[in-house]
Amino acid sequence: MSHFLPLSRVTKLVGTSRHALQEMIRGGTLDTFDGMVELNELLRAFPEAKWDDDAEFRRITEIKEKAFGKRVFERALPDKEVLAARLFELGNDYAATKALLMHYSQVLSWLDEKIDEIEEDQSTETRHALHTVRAFIVRHLAEIPPDAAKAQAVIAQERILKIMSAHVTIQPSGHEFFVESNDTLLEAALRAGVSLNYGCSNGNCGECRARLISGEVKKVHAHDYVLSQAEKDAGVFLLCSCAAVNDVVIEANVAGAQDIQMQQLAAKIKSVEVFNPQVAALHLLAPRSQRLRFLAGQSIRLSAHGVSGHYAIASCPCEERHIEIQILRKPGDAFSELLFSGLKAHDSVEVEGPYGEFVLEDASTRPVIFLAFGVGFAPIKSLIQHSMSLDLAEAMDLHWLADGAGHYQNNLCRAWADALDNFTYIPHAHSDDVETTLANIVTDYPDLHRFDVYAAGTAAQLQIARSLFLKHGLPEQRWLASSY
Ligand code: FES
Repeated sequence: MSHFLPLSRVTKLVGTSRHALQEMIRGGTLDTFDGMVELNELLRAFPEAKWDDDAEFRRITEIKEKAFGKRVFERALPDKEVLAARLFELGNDYAATKALLMHYSQVLSWLDEKIDEIEEDQSTETRHALHTVRAFIVRHLAEIPPDAAKAQAVIAQERILKIMSAHVTIQPSGHEFFVESNDTLLEAALRAGVSLNYGCSNGNCGECRARLISGEVKKVHAHDYVLSQAEKDAGVFLLCSCAAVNDVVIEANVAGAQDIQMQQLAAKIKSVEVFNPQVAALHLLAPRSQRLRFLAGQSIRLSAHGVSGHYAIASCPCEERHIEIQILRKPGDAFSELLFSGLKAHDSVEVEGPYGEFVLEDASTRPVIFLAFGVGFAPIKSLIQHSMSLDLAEAMDLHWLADGAGHYQNNLCRAWADALDNFTYIPHAHSDDVETTLANIVTDYPDLHRFDVYAAGTAAQLQIARSLFLKHGLPEQRWLASSY
């Protein structure tokens, strides 16, 4: 019996990126069938993998030992009805496999009797041949294949993954993500950087409507009154009210920058993080009932104590209620002065936005160059985090050209580079000769036509960079920039 595993789960089992697997498939070192990997092929292609040392198993062991507090314990497990449905499905799988094995065993007994019957009136040669066949079957049934223990470990891990998470494919965009713990489909999508349409997050507006194409979803929040019976009968459900019971395919709209409406909300300051005398981060918390909906790379207007300013968001939409802004202290920018002198935790800040279309081409699998000038690092940081969640880009190179404020989040960038095989961080020291620095960068990319470039800096810096990158072969439509 062949056992096939979907590519998305293989990434989790072997702890590699989807891109790395696709490279192996393209290079002929991993065979797939219909987007699935056969178990023996998986064992062949990853002989070094440690199938019995998996983070998911360890997590479950910890849960079993009640090492977590009650809240974490509840968050780590799926909703109890979803968990029951997944276990029921697993039980069905087990029962079907057992029934099949019983059937095979019956066929073998029947074959054994048949051989006895046939043997009676046969010549010595035929009896010998039948005896050899029987011995062959008995020997092979008794032999344990060398990879049996590994195969068993892979299947056991895959089963655990299936209990703990469900895989979601969105049509027509083709986005994919996993729903883990007791998340709704909407929460899981946002966490994975997939910008699905939504409004209230609590079942009242109906903007998160989606249609189930295959698989099963379960209502985990009671509210779905905005749906008519005819819609429900047609498989329409609310992403903010439902969790996925098993792997599902759904039809839903993935929002672009133009689809997101202007919002106004009062956020609270969680903390002010001063990196150095020139740059500080403002960490805001949106109200529980009104998260800010935005795409990575967009900006917002902030107002407090009668002054306001317009800044890029440095956090990722996957961070739920948390919004981070990085602000350069500038004479004449009253809000920046206020940040350094008067704002403190628990103060209220009015937020308006989002603005701008400096967002990720999220269907692109091309390699990416992120070019950050000074505090232009803020929207770039948001885009990088989004790109990491999507896990589609072939490679990501971050060039951070420091201004007087330096590489104020150097450790974070180095941590990204340490953690990800396809991420490279190249800091460039402050220099008055930006043109020479940029000229050195472009010469490292003889194949610029293959890249997407996202750049954030002052208008003058961006103008120099754009003309150099285009001159060295970057297609004009692949230059995406935002000035501050
Ligand atoms: S977001 Fe409003 S109903 Fe789901």
